[in-house]
Parts: sequence; structure tokens; C-alpha cells
Amino acid sequence: MARVFSGIQPTGDLHLGNYLGAVRQWAIDQDSHEALYCVVDLHAMTASYEPKELTTRTQTTATLLLASGLDPARCTLFVQSQVPAHTELAWILNCTATFGELNRMTQFKDKGQSGNSVTVGLFAYPVLMAADILAYDTDQVPVGDDQRQHLELARDIALRFNNRFGETFTVPKATVPPLGARVMDLQDPTIKMSKSNSSPQGIIGLLDAPKTIRKRIRSAVTDSDNHIEFNPDTKPGLANLLTLLAVTTEQSIEAVVSEYESSGYGSLKDATADAIIACLSPIQERYADLSSDLKYVSGQLNQGAERARSLSSPVIARVRERAGLLAP
Ligand code: AMP
Ligand code: TRP
Repeated sequence: MARVFSGIQPTGDLHLGNYLGAVRQWAIDQDSHEALYCVVDLHAMTASYEPKELTTRTQTTATLLLASGLDPARCTLFVQSQVPAHTELAWILNCTATFGELNRMTQFKDKGQSGNSVTVGLFAYPVLMAADILAYDTDQVPVGDDQRQHLELARDIALRFNNRFGETFTVPKATVPPLGARVMDLQDPTIKMSKSNSSPQGIIGLLDAPKTIRKRIRSAVTDSDNHIEFNPDTKPGLANLLTLLAVTTEQSIEAVVSEYESSGYGSLKDATADAIIACLSPIQERYADLSSDLKYVSGQLNQGAERARSLSSPVIARVRERAGLLAP
């Protein structure tokens, strides 16, 4: 069975982009793959943060992942910092990645622009991500569109290490969903929906109340000609709504366009809001149950970490030996 690995930062409540771009696919992959999913708390430390909040958000994110359908009986769900292999491998890979290639990462260019002291951790973020993936002999990495460049880097690092030290790593591939890989901000449909850049009106959170979802979809920015066609370049707001409706009702774009082309934007928005509410309501119900049982959640995470440690340890032993390090 092919192995999939993916990760998500515990930076707050997950939004619809996280779910449709990544987590929904993770739940599907559990049945056909050996699946590992990781809450990457060490990555979240690359932005300024409060320790107590990081703890709570890590728990909340894990709970939301369980509520979204990840099943510890069918996948390994764990927290990155509870498995030391990630930081150990990250250092070894830091010594093969180059300054130039990290400097070309668009996410670093965006986040590192702030002028405030940019940490080495933020710069090396993609190397830690490569370590996450390579520590498990991962075949496939289901992610949203914004992670493609990081995946290319992970592949380059794996290939370079293999060339230099002999066959060591499986070279992973990104798998990006055909629809929903880039959910756009509802207020500015030229940028992706994101916790850090979007205004609250631009986002739908997985735990948002139906009333909020309806309001945000109704006030989503479109255009003024009221003509329904799918064109992300000229009608990005409308294209985003059509995509959301198609993905959440499991239809093609063509099917939703032909259903709504004779009605106006108003009825398309109503249908989109209804579909999103229906898609999120089972997740919200499970979340309410699970969040009253945090012991269960942390128990599952501990078991996940134990399994992740045992899966990564032969890979780390192989890497250490190839790189010329003494056995521990
Ligand atoms: P992050 O919250 O940055 O850790 O992202 C977790 C996963 O969600 C990654 O696979 C991202 O590619 C995906 N993702 C984040 N934002 C979006 C978005 N607006 N549309 C689609 N996928 C997204
Ligand atoms: N960088 C990813 C993001 O922001 C999160 C991540 C960390 C990840 N490690 C990973 C994703 C390993 C896939 C595989 O979305």
C-alpha cells in the first residue's frame, strides 16, 4: 500500500480552504493508503506566538481533524514535536539544502518581508517540512496548491541526498485535488483564503455558525454583470463560488454552471451557502462531542506519536549510517 503523509499548522481554527484543499482528501486516502497526518506545532513556532495558545491550538486542531473524519483506527494522527525524528532529520537535511534554494521559496518571500526580525526557523521552514515527509518513506503528499513549491524542494533534497550518499529516501509526489486546491478569499478573490491574510469576512471557518456562513457567502465579492460562467481570470469571485458549490455537492463545474446559468447570482449564493452548511454540520456535531472528551483526543495523539516514532526510527537509522554518524 502506498504511504501518504501530510501536515497542518495549529495556527487557529481551520478554514474551508484547509478542508477542501487538504483535509477532505486525507479522510478519503485513509481507506486506500497507509496514512500519516501530523499537526506541525514546530512549524507554527516560526511565527510569533504565545506558548499557552500554541498548546490549546494544537489540541483544537487535532480535535478538528478527528471531527473531519480522520479515524485513528485507519490512520496515524500525531503531533510533530512528540516525535524527535523530525528535528533530527531536519538538521541533517539543513546541511544539504542551500541558502539560494531556500531564498527562492515564495512563501518565505511573502512571510519574511515584514522587516521584523526574520528567524532562521522561518527561513528553514521548508527543510523541516521535507524532514517530516522524508522521515516516513512517504510516496504521496496530499496538499493544497500553495504547497507545490515546498514539495518540489523536498523532492530535490531527497534526490540530492540519494545521489551524494546512496539510495536512502523515497522521493515523494504532491497530490493536489482537481477542484478546491485553491479556495479564494471571499472579499478579495485574487488572494487565497488564509488565516493570516484574510479579513474575517473573507473566511469561512469550519466551526462557523450557519448564520455566519450564509452572511459571508451573500456578501462575497463577485462582479456586476450577473452572467454565470466559469472564468477564474475575468470573474474570480464567481469562479470561487462555483467551485465551492461544485466541490461541496460533488458535482462538476459544468453541471453547476448549467444548473444556475439562467438564474442570478442571488440563487447561486443561496445554494452555495446551503451546500457549505450541509457539508460542515456533521463536522461541527462531532467536534462538539469530541471537545468534551479531551482525554480521548490526547490518548489518541499519544498512540499516534508512538506509532510514528516506530515508523520513522528505521529511516533515521538508515540516514545516520549513510551520512557517516555513529550509532546512538
Ligand atoms: P496550513 O494551514 O498552511 O498548515 O495548510 C494546511 C493545508 O491546507 C495545506 O495542504 C494547504 O495547502 C491547504 N490550504 C491552505 N489554505 C488553502 C486554500 N485557501 N485553499 C486550498 N487549500 C488550502
Ligand atoms: N507547510 C505546510 C502548510 O503550511 C504544512 C506542513 C508541514 C506540511 N509539514 C508538512 C504539509 C509535510 C505536508 C507535508 O500547509
